[in-house]
Amino acid sequence: MFSINTRIRIQRSARTFATSRNSLAGQNLIEKIVQKYSVGLPANKLVHSGDYVSISPAHVMSHDNSWPVALKFKGLGAKKVKNNRQIVNTLDHDVQNKSEKNVEKYENIENFAKEQGIDFYPAGRGIGHQIMIEEGYAFPGNLTVASDSHSNTYGGIGALGTPVVRTDAAAIWATGQTWWQIPPVANVILEGKLPKGTSGKDIIVALCGLFNNDEVLNHAIEFTGESVKELSIDYRLTIANMTTEWGALSGVFPIDDTLINWYNKRLLRVGPNHPRINNQTLEKLINNKVVADKDAFYAKTLRIDLSTLSPYISGPNSVKIGTSVDKLSEQDIKINKAYLVSCTNSRLSDIKAAADVVKDNKIAPGVEFYIAAASSEVQKDAELDGAWETLIKAGCKPLPAGCGPCIGLGAGLLKEGEVGISATNRNFKGRMGSKDALAYLASPEVVAASAVLGKIASPEEVLGESCKKSNEVKKTVIINSPKNDESSTDVSEGSSASSTLEGFPESIEGEIVFCDADNVNTDGIYPGKYTYQDDVSREKMAEVCMENYDSEFGSKTKAGDIIVSGFNFGTGSSREQAATAILARDIKLVAAGSFSNIFGRNSINNALLTLELPELINLLRKEFKDSESELTRRTGWTLKWDIPKSIVTIKNDKGEIVLTNKVGELGTNLQEIIIEGGLEGWVRAQLKKE
Ligand code: F3S
Repeated sequence: MFSINTRIRIQRSARTFATSRNSLAGQNLIEKIVQKYSVGLPANKLVHSGDYVSISPAHVMSHDNSWPVALKFKGLGAKKVKNNRQIVNTLDHDVQNKSEKNVEKYENIENFAKEQGIDFYPAGRGIGHQIMIEEGYAFPGNLTVASDSHSNTYGGIGALGTPVVRTDAAAIWATGQTWWQIPPVANVILEGKLPKGTSGKDIIVALCGLFNNDEVLNHAIEFTGESVKELSIDYRLTIANMTTEWGALSGVFPIDDTLINWYNKRLLRVGPNHPRINNQTLEKLINNKVVADKDAFYAKTLRIDLSTLSPYISGPNSVKIGTSVDKLSEQDIKINKAYLVSCTNSRLSDIKAAADVVKDNKIAPGVEFYIAAASSEVQKDAELDGAWETLIKAGCKPLPAGCGPCIGLGAGLLKEGEVGISATNRNFKGRMGSKDALAYLASPEVVAASAVLGKIASPEEVLGESCKKSNEVKKTVIINSPKNDESSTDVSEGSSASSTLEGFPESIEGEIVFCDADNVNTDGIYPGKYTYQDDVSREKMAEVCMENYDSEFGSKTKAGDIIVSGFNFGTGSSREQAATAILARDIKLVAAGSFSNIFGRNSINNALLTLELPELINLLRKEFKDSESELTRRTGWTLKWDIPKSIVTIKNDKGEIVLTNKVGELGTNLQEIIIEGGLEGWVRAQLKKE
């Protein structure tokens, strides 16, 4: 439902992710950063998308979930964290909850941090991601992870930020490292001048709504293009933050003069003796800028002409629906609540932008407008500026710096039948309160205007002007197909042998069992009714594996088979048993068009190998199109993964080779994790060695 005014172009690269990356190509910015934080690489090894690597991130942040991470850490037998300078604990999610239970949890986290010498930020200091940036943990060119999905935010300041699961966080606490598979990287080119009245939020809301067919799902994004230098760091942080909702694992802006100038100002704010933001670190940054190689490889290129944008709103209840504000304003959608909270849009410039719209006005009768600064520092600055007072005088309701209503916690949630407009990042049904409420997302300016007028509205309308019409320029989407000459992959190029550890097989081979469906969810793989039973035996797990997907799965498969399924395999809830049930069925490898990110992590963390082979799915779908109704089909085809050469060969039932794919390298570090039965086993083994 985007207006026809945005010009975009998608270029598919000439090479696809799993099949044909040329290992001689240069490194993009993502690969450059991962290279710096990879450990145990063979000499001269240059990392690329698809490679599994062990990483030792600069920092790992956990928030209210620090206690579950601590319990996991202790459960692994660890006593002392490997490097307390690497770890940051913040309390931000449930900061309004003063119940005994929550107070106790917060005390537990604080005491643990004190015992271990971990940097700790108490409730009220702000949202963890904002603290990571303000305090220089996430820093240009570094790799910083957090056990939270909005770790992507760090990309706004040129850091590679990506989420990890709790097991990863515990592994980093115990050993300083975990693993990562470098995702395919998309180059998102921002061109044209952003029109007055539009903001970073409008850019990312537009990207989510315009490219709403999973174009960047599980990719890392690099933002490039002539317009990037014009975007403020606050705009970049908002955009990077919401690359999560766009489906990406990271969204990184370049390290450029705009960023350096921002750090020079930050230096004045934090003083000369800050441990991470100081003259030395900035000098080092300026002299060692990490940039992509000129011949860097990108899996995709997307372009957007910002000059054709106008303010956009996403929703209701989905970021995949984007509509220009003039269209929604015409519909006279009354609102009950408005929010300027969260790690997306509660920085100083956001608060000032909202105050500029609200000043000399009152919040509409019957509307509640909640505001919370991203951090105590931001709130102080907004108070000094006067913007905070402007909002309070207009009738806004202040909340403590923290997450709160963004995740449905504390005061001011949406009730049944209500409509809310929010400057946050997620409008999933029920996230901000009742599942029977409607939630829209917009920029701080549009949220403020809507709060003043009591309906979805543009800032111009507050000034008594009519809402500006969105541009007449036509929207175009051009998808360039991969070049025809790619039908066969040159597997000789870059197929140099890597080593295998003793105890790790040289190859993995088996018959392909084709489960032809997209979005096979974790409930289909391992039924929800067993998830919270702790005494399910391995035999029972094997018996019920894939039962909800196909009741005949058990009778049609045997030990050693290789499951091949469609796209987004393992979507849905994050239950680890989805991976362990497949292992219980004695299946060591699952190949799919793509995997949900959490399933991918849970698999390796439990020693189940996975391969993304979109070409194979297309091939099997062509070959077996006659049997679409058969949920589980034995094919007679075989898959062989040559581990040292990183080549997958598919043979049909006549033994003819029908496909060869170069895949990411499974380094010896990863093999070690698999040999030890997964990440937890590997951590235990490391602790034992020590
Ligand atoms: Fe908190 Fe919402 Fe961000 S829950 S971390 S403010 S997405």
